[in-house]
Formats: sequence, structure tokens, C-alpha cells
Amino acid sequence: MKNALNFPAPRGRAALVPSVLAADFTCLKGSLAPVKKLADWVQLDVMDGFFVPNISFGPGLVPAVAAASGLPVDAHLMIAEPGRFIEPFAKAGAGLITVHAEARGAAACIKKIKALGLKAGLALRPRTPVSRLVPFLGSLDLILIMTVEPGFGGQAFMPEMLAKVGKARALINASGRGIWLQVDGGINARTALLAAGAGADSFVIGSALFSAGSPAAFLRELRKKL
Ligand code: DX5
Repeated sequence: MKNALNFPAPRGRAALVPSVLAADFTCLKGSLAPVKKLADWVQLDVMDGFFVPNISFGPGLVPAVAAASGLPVDAHLMIAEPGRFIEPFAKAGAGLITVHAEARGAAACIKKIKALGLKAGLALRPRTPVSRLVPFLGSLDLILIMTVEPGFGGQAFMPEMLAKVGKARALINASGRGIWLQVDGGINARTALLAAGAGADSFVIGSALFSAGSPAAFLRELRKKL
């Protein structure tokens, strides 16, 4: 599928990933235009009000976000039954789909995502140990370590997740494969550097980016430091 081809592989350059959840929905294009040349892809936080205590977007928003940003779309499925939505998000144009290890049928979802020719990600909630990643290291393109309890933007970064990022980095290095190590939740200019120091190379940024005076300057400065 064309979309997955747009997804960069990890090559030592940090990936900056705006989280659309914090964008201005009265003017999505205006909100995303300043970052389209500075970001690597955009993340769509999909919530079902069951797996997490919040409801957000469906597949229908993917084409609008892709058009408004001109960037590949990463669908982060915070839903209890992701298997029912892999094909709808694939058809909608997502290039990477991340499911949670705690959700029903995560292994089958990863197989399905790869069979559709897309990039596959696996996310861990703060309480879930990195050992849950081991069976999937041979097929994942991205590992997402949540640095907040999933469900809402604007929460404080959990520094206790840095040790977990380090363990995930060790697993990826031992696998010898090019797998992105993404952090998400409370990421700003300070916490991004902490997470990078622990081994992360993909940074989802919501409120810190879209509440910055200049989102473009924010990304430019951050990229210089990473
Ligand atoms: C939370 C989402 C995050 C969130 C990030 O469950 O997965 O992507 O939108 O927002 P900030 O950067 O504001 O924590």
C-alpha cells in the first residue's frame, strides 16, 4: 500500500511526530501547515471510551489529516478490539497502525497490519512490562512506550518510564532490526531530551507543540538538540 512507503525507517535521525489530538480543529490545515516541513509524520489518537476513558476519532479523519499535513499518518489505536478497525484505517490511508499489547488479539492485529503491507507498532501502557514485546521483535516497525496513562493530552510526563525506555532500547539493539522507539505523553523540549538519553528516537508531541508561540520554532529548536 502506498502509504506505508512514505514511512521513514529509523536511521539515527529523530522522528518528530505531532499528536493531532492537541491541534486546532476549527482550522486543522492552519494548525498543521507550520509543522509539515519540520515533522516526520503525524499521529492520530484513536480512543473508544472503553480501553481508555475518552472518545476521539474514527478512520474518517485520516484523509483530512493526511491532506492538511501532507505527512504520513500513524494511527495509535487505544481501543479494546483493534482487530475490527485495522482494515478501515488501512483503507482510510494510515501508513502505520499501532495497537496496544493489552488490547484483545494484539498478535493477530500485527499479522494483519503487516499482511496489508503497512508498518506495525505495539504500544505498552505504563504498568505493562517490556517483556510483552519479546514475541513481536521479529515483526514490529515501532515500539511505543506510553509516558502517561493513555486517554488525555496535557498530562505530566512519568520519569519512572525512562528505565523502561532503556530496557526497550536494549531489546531493539539485541534484535538487530530497525525498530522505532517512540515515547508519547508529556513530551516537551526537556522531557524529549531525557527520553532520547534513555534511547527513544520517535517523539509524539501534543500540547507542548500546539500551545507553543511558534510550533515551527519549537520543532526547529528541538531537532537541533536531538
Ligand atoms: C494520550 C495520547 C497522546 C497525547 C499527547 O493518550 O496518546 O498522544 O495526545 O499529548 P501531550 O503531548 O499533550 O501529552
